[in-house]
Amino acid sequence: MTEDVIERAKRHFAQIVEEQLDRIRRLRETTGVWIDYPKQRPVVIGFVGGDGIGPYIIDATERVLKFLLADKLATGEIIFKKIEGLTLERRAKLMQSVPEDVLEAVKHCHVLLKGPTTTPREGDRYPNLESANVTLRRELDLFANVRPVKVPEKGIDWIFFRENTEGAYVLGSRGIHITDELAIDFSVTTSTGAERIIRMAFEYARQNGINRVTVVTKANIIKATDGKFLATAERVARDYPEVAWDHWFVDIFAAKLLDPKRRTDFRVVVLPNLYGDIITDEAAEIQGGVGTAGSANIGTRYAMFEPIHGSALRMVEEGRAIYANPTSAMRAAVMLLRHIGFSEEARRLDNALDITEKKVQITGRPDGATCSEFTDHVLATLSGAE
Ligand code: IPM
Ligand code: MG
Repeated sequence: MTEDVIERAKRHFAQIVEEQLDRIRRLRETTGVWIDYPKQRPVVIGFVGGDGIGPYIIDATERVLKFLLADKLATGEIIFKKIEGLTLERRAKLMQSVPEDVLEAVKHCHVLLKGPTTTPREGDRYPNLESANVTLRRELDLFANVRPVKVPEKGIDWIFFRENTEGAYVLGSRGIHITDELAIDFSVTTSTGAERIIRMAFEYARQNGINRVTVVTKANIIKATDGKFLATAERVARDYPEVAWDHWFVDIFAAKLLDPKRRTDFRVVVLPNLYGDIITDEAAEIQGGVGTAGSANIGTRYAMFEPIHGSALRMVEEGRAIYANPTSAMRAAVMLLRHIGFSEEARRLDNALDITEKKVQITGRPDGATCSEFTDHVLATLSGAE
C-alpha cells in the first residue's frame, strides 16, 4: 500500500517536471519577442464580462471606451469584440476553467478587458476547477502583473511587478493528496521566468528615472525557489548600475507598507506570484480599497487588463449589482489605453476618474450612486460638460 502511494506520487512529480522543462523550452523561444502595440493597427480589444458584478462594470467601461475611442472605432484602427461564455455556470457544466471557444476567441484579440471571475473552492457547490484567471494568464503567457498604487497626499507612488505565471500559482491546482493525512503542493521558479519580470521592473525604473527597485522574497525560508528569484535579481541588477536596489523579506515588507515614515521610500517593487497577490491587496487597501485599483497582465503577444477585486457574487445575490463600483475596471482601461499607445486618451480617462471619484460617492449600496450614474459622470467629465 505505502509503495503504491509513493509510486503514484513519483509519477505525478515526474510528469510535473517534464511539463515544466517543456515550458522552459517554449519560454526561451518567446522571451523578448514583443508585439509593438503602439504600432500594431488594427488593435482588437476583447471584452470579457466574467462573473458576479463583472458584466456590470465591464459594460460600463466599454461605454466609456466607446466614447473615448469613437474616431478610432470609426476608422477601424480599433475593433471591439464582445466575448461571451466565461461564466461560472458554463465552466462548471463543461468542466473547463476556460471553455475552449472562449480561449479561441480570446486568442483572436490583442488585448482584453476582463471582469473578475469566481474561483471555485473545495466544498463549493461548483466543481473545484482551476481559477479562470490563472488559466488565462498561463495560456496567454501573461507573465507580468503590473499594479500601480498611488496616494499623492501621503507621498505614496508605488508600482508592483508581480510575477504572474510561476511560483505557488503555476502548480496550485496540481498539488496532491498523497494520503488522507498528507497533502503536498509545488512551487516553481525558472531563471527565464524570474529574469523577464525582474528585468521589466528594472527597465521601468530606468525609463522613468526612478532610482530604486525593491525585490521582495522569503528566500531565508523558501530557499530553492525564492533563493533563485533573489539570485536572479542580483544578476540582473548588474545590468542597471544607475538603479539602486534592495531586498526585503515579505513579512517585514508587509509591515513597512504600513509605516508612514518608511513606505514612501518604496517605488518599484518586484516579487514572486503569491507574495505579489497578497501585497498588492494590502497596497490597494491603503489606496482606498481593492475596488479602486486596476491591474495589467502583460505578455509578449497578449495583454489582459482587469480590476484586482473579486466577482462579489453576494452583491448580485442581494440585488445590489447595480451599485457595483466600476472604478477599478476603468483604471484597468487606463492601463490598456497606455499599452496600445493611446496615452492622451489614457490621461483623460485617469483624470476624469480622479474628478468623478471626488464628486460621486459609490458605496456598493443604495445610499451611494449606481454604477451607471457613476459612468454618466465620467462621460460628462470627459465631454467637458462638468
Ligand atoms: C488577483 C486575484 C487572483 C489571484 C484570483 C482571482 C485567481 O486575487 O488577481 O490578485 O489570486 O491572482
Ligand atoms: Mg489577489
